[in-house]
Amino acid sequence: MEVTMPYAKIVGTGSYLPPRVVSNDELAADMATRNIETSDEWIVTRTGIRQRHIADPGVKTSSMAIEAARAAMQDARIAPEDVDLIIVATSTPDFIFPSTACLVQAGLGIKQGAAFDVQAVCSGFVYALTTAEVFIRAGRARTALVIGAEVFSSILDWNDRSTCVLFGDGAGAVVVRASDEPGILGAQLNADGSHMNILYAAGNVSHGSVVGDPFLRMDGQAVFKMAVNALSQSAADVCAQAGVALEEVDWLVPHQANVRILNFLSKKLHIPIEKVVVTLDKQANTSAASVPLAMDAARRDGRIKAGDLVLMQGVGGGFTWGSVLARM
Ligand code: UT7
Repeated sequence: MEVTMPYAKIVGTGSYLPPRVVSNDELAADMATRNIETSDEWIVTRTGIRQRHIADPGVKTSSMAIEAARAAMQDARIAPEDVDLIIVATSTPDFIFPSTACLVQAGLGIKQGAAFDVQAVCSGFVYALTTAEVFIRAGRARTALVIGAEVFSSILDWNDRSTCVLFGDGAGAVVVRASDEPGILGAQLNADGSHMNILYAAGNVSHGSVVGDPFLRMDGQAVFKMAVNALSQSAADVCAQAGVALEEVDWLVPHQANVRILNFLSKKLHIPIEKVVVTLDKQANTSAASVPLAMDAARRDGRIKAGDLVLMQGVGGGFTWGSVLARM
């Protein structure tokens, strides 16, 4: 008889970044050829971003997700036969259907279990991780691959300087397993669809053509304000839910949109900036991929260790936001 284990624990992480790195200077030079003015100085001062990885034309979200998942599976020392749940968070799926998760399943040679996508834009990873946790704690799955993967460059308007400089491509993955030891201690998800008009890509495909505007549009200042308030409230809520004080958090791993948002958050939560994992200088905003990419970077460089308390946070279009608190 199978014994249900009470916790869901992160036991491996992995990343994939496309090899092409585009610096702010390169981007500015390219935009100058279209008479659009921007500069490394503006981008660094306003956002903290110095470069981003951009997928070559034709590279799909699923192929990056597969690479990140392979790295996470290797890290967790699990085989394809072990995986019984795959959740991919993405806003840039390969196809209308099947889901990117099904493509990942096939690409990894996994024959069993469930696979589906979660669409919560830049909050997608915390939504997907929370979903996996609930499956595992309910005994419906034992070993989940949770992936955030995006080719966000494909939905950017490269003539809109207020958005195109902010984003990049990539994929991050974690393996979550049923465990006797405490792992995910709390999770908190939120949405307020009445703010859908501050961040959206409102086009769709109908009768064989794209209808409406297929590009990402954003009211940056409105998003900035909502992000700081939403994330600080969510951090307090998830810690209260888990009976943990904010001071006990070893690492804050927030969605990587703007270093000024992270500075505000660090001050508001009284979490020193040294405890905030920052990757946006090198990777820009990779939407659903940013949190697992940051997790993996900080685990592999030795910052996040076994036993550490990690607070992951997402925020983005919908409007959506949320937090997951995990003991590593
Ligand atoms: O992942 C989803 C979550 N997304 C976010 O969290 C994004 C949140 N928002 C932000 O990060 C910031 O609001 C931005 C980085 C998007 C913008 O920074 P800001 O300090 O709010 O600048 P702004 O929008 O007020 O623009 C200031 C000026 C404007 O010119 P004027 O009107 O003052 O003449 C813009 O036209 O900067 C101009 N500008 C630029 N200049 C050079 C906007 N984009 C650029 C650019 N290069 N790339």
